[in-house]
Amino acid sequence: MTKRESMEFETRCVHPPRGDFDGTGAIATPIYQTATFAHEGLGEDGATGSGYDYTRQQNPTREQLERLVADLEEADDAIAFTSGMAAVRALMELFVPGDRIVCSGDLYGGTYRLFDQVLTPFGLAFSYGKSTDEVLARIGEAPEGLRAVYIETPTNPMMNVFDIRRIAEAARAAGALFIVDNTFLTPYFQRPLTLGADIVLHSGSKYLGGHNDTIAGFLAIRGQELSERLRFVAKTTGSGLSPFDSFLLIRGIKTLALRLDRAQENALALAEWLGAHPLVTSVRYPGLPDHEGYALSGRQATGFGAMIAFSVADAALVRQILARVRVIRFAESLGGTESLITYPVLQTHADIPEQERLEIGITDKLLRLSVGVESAADLIADLRQALGD
Ligand SMILES: Cc1ncc(COP(=O)(O)O)c(C=O)c1O
Repeated sequence: MTKRESMEFETRCVHPPRGDFDGTGAIATPIYQTATFAHEGLGEDGATGSGYDYTRQQNPTREQLERLVADLEEADDAIAFTSGMAAVRALMELFVPGDRIVCSGDLYGGTYRLFDQVLTPFGLAFSYGKSTDEVLARIGEAPEGLRAVYIETPTNPMMNVFDIRRIAEAARAAGALFIVDNTFLTPYFQRPLTLGADIVLHSGSKYLGGHNDTIAGFLAIRGQELSERLRFVAKTTGSGLSPFDSFLLIRGIKTLALRLDRAQENALALAEWLGAHPLVTSVRYPGLPDHEGYALSGRQATGFGAMIAFSVADAALVRQILARVRVIRFAESLGGTESLITYPVLQTHADIPEQERLEIGITDKLLRLSVGVESAADLIADLRQALGD
């Protein structure tokens, strides 16, 4: 077989790093549905000397998935968690009261809720910048106590694009860890570790799983010391992904490139169609040349993804669209084969205080669309009837 390093990304998605299990020749990764592993004798791990001990610590199915994600993100290690939020929570165990973290000003609402309602009372201090320049300014403001910079790019839901290279440089100069939530673009389109990030975070419930059927999360890590510290947290707090869900993620990742190519093609068609609609007042999609992050996206990513945010002329229209869509489903989440439409103000971002929400642009007229892999013509027809054409 060709050496893994010389394989293209698409091939590596289909063939996880460890090909064979137990010499059976199984093509699909088996689900090792076991809680524990027998020892041959005192001081010997696992019946086969495999090193497995107890599934909370490690399991062959999860390990296969972790190696795959590490490989795709060009990381030294990756850890699979029970959800994206469990991954964020485990990551935050690196910090202690008094530590300061600078964030992009438009984060997934659940991440904001964790920072604001769980970790701020615990003593961590979070500040937010709405653009690359604002994040750089926050980093420069008070270097003492600054421990990390945490961004999403593109952001959820406003699709703002942050400059990974510039922020990486500033974070490094300040001695802070740089964490990038890469959920929206996935390693197929963007690899932040190659641009200077230390840790990449994923909600694996989205594009990596890809079928709206599993909740999962990942940390992909650069450096052995960081990986050891985070592995210790994961095994100690017991937030590792189950063998069955690990299997579903391995299966989902096989078609990652195919799904994203198709979803992105659909997203561009929908963004252009929405942009020309008289009842649509603005469209946020970085793949449109008039998006302010279009050129930057081209420099740091190989694609624009398939998430769109758009605003309609009045809030009553939102109710109508959500009631009328048929092919597109009105549901939280994103990144699956099915197109989903979400109302951030009442769903994903309901926990952000109103003033901050409005400053970011999350109004009662904003909808978020996760474009799936259906036919673009059917999706446009669905939006057309939902808008009342
Ligand atoms: C960008 C982003 N990060 C993290 C999360 C949290 O992931 P999970 O829902 O898997 O816990 C989400 C969930 O929507 C998200 O959109």
